[in-house]
Amino acid sequence: MIEPEIEQNETSKETKKKLREKVLRLKKERNAYIVAHNYQNYEVQEVADILGDSLALSKAAIGTGSDVVVFCGVDFMAESAKILNPEKKVLLPVREADCPMALMATGERLREKKKEYPDAAVVCYVNSSAEVKAESDIACTSSNAIKIVKSLPHKQILFVPDKNLGHYVQRFCPEKEIILWQGFCTTHIRITPEEVLATKAKYPNAPFIVHPECPPAVIDLADHVCATSGFSPFISKSQADTFIIGTEVGMIYKLKKDFPNKRFVMPTEHFVCQTMKMTTLGWVAHSLETLEHDIQIPEDIRRRAEVTLKRMMDVSNDHPNAVIASY
Ligand code: 13P
Ligand code: SF4
Repeated sequence: MIEPEIEQNETSKETKKKLREKVLRLKKERNAYIVAHNYQNYEVQEVADILGDSLALSKAAIGTGSDVVVFCGVDFMAESAKILNPEKKVLLPVREADCPMALMATGERLREKKKEYPDAAVVCYVNSSAEVKAESDIACTSSNAIKIVKSLPHKQILFVPDKNLGHYVQRFCPEKEIILWQGFCTTHIRITPEEVLATKAKYPNAPFIVHPECPPAVIDLADHVCATSGFSPFISKSQADTFIIGTEVGMIYKLKKDFPNKRFVMPTEHFVCQTMKMTTLGWVAHSLETLEHDIQIPEDIRRRAEVTLKRMMDVSNDHPNAVIASY
C-alpha cells in the first residue's frame, strides 16, 4: 500500500513555473478553455479552468464563449466534447493519449454483436469511440449508469465496453439481463482483494471508496462506490480522518487539495493510467501554440453519436456529482 506524495524538486519547480506562465499567456491569446480530468498530472490540474469527471468536462465545454477547448484527458473525452461542440476547435494535447478500454470495442464488432441480440438496447459507457457511440442507443457514465439502464423499457441490455461497470449495474437492476462486452479498464483491474484487505487491516476505521471500473471482488469490499466526481462529496460527509482510495493516483492530488487535514492511502502502487499521464504542461503549451491535435469526427458519425449522448443527458439531468450507490 502507498501514501502518494506530490513533492517536486527545485529544478522542476523552476521549469514548471515558466511553462505554467507560458500556458496561461497562450490560453489568453487563443481565448482557450482548459479542461482536465481528475486523473491528470497535478501541474496540468493546476492550469485547468475546470477539473472533473468525463461527463462534467464535456458538458462544461458547452457555451463557455471560448474559441478553443484544450482537453487534458484521453481521446474519448475530447471526442465527446467535439461531438457536443462541433463548432469549437477541440484539442487533445497528446495524440497517443487513448483509453485502452475504449479501444476494446469497435463499431464493426458492435454491429456484429447487435445482430446476435436484436431485442437488446445498446448502452455504451462514455469510455468508447465516437463510432461505438454512433452504433449505440444511449450512453452512460459511471455516475449515471444505473439510472440510464433502469430508464430503458428493454429487458435485454447490451452493455459496452466495460464488463466491470456492467456487472456493477446488474447488481442494482435484477429486472434486466445485461449482456457484458468483455472490455475492462487496464488500470482498475490491477487492484486485488488481498491488497484491499491488507490495507483495511492496517487502517480499520478508514472507509474504502472505489471506482466501479474495479473488479467485482474489489467492489464487494467497498464502503462507497462512485465516479471520480463522487469521492469529495462522500469524504466531506464522513467523520473519518483516513480514506482508502480505489482509483487512479491522480485523484489524490485533488483530494489532498480539497481536504488538507485528511489522509489518503492506496492499496496498490499500480494505480497509474499511463495514457492519462502522457499530458504534461509542456504538451499543453505545445497544443496551444500549434493548435494540435485538432479532433475531427466524420459528420454522419458525429451526429449519431450526439443523439446517443444527448439521450443520456435528457435522462440524467441531475448533477454529475451524483453518487451511484452507498453500501
Ligand atoms: P469518471 O467518469 O468517473 O471520471 O471515469 C473516467 C475514467 O476514465 C475512469 O477510469
Ligand atoms: Fe481508460 Fe482506465 Fe485510463 Fe480511465 S483509467 S482512461 S478507463 S484506461
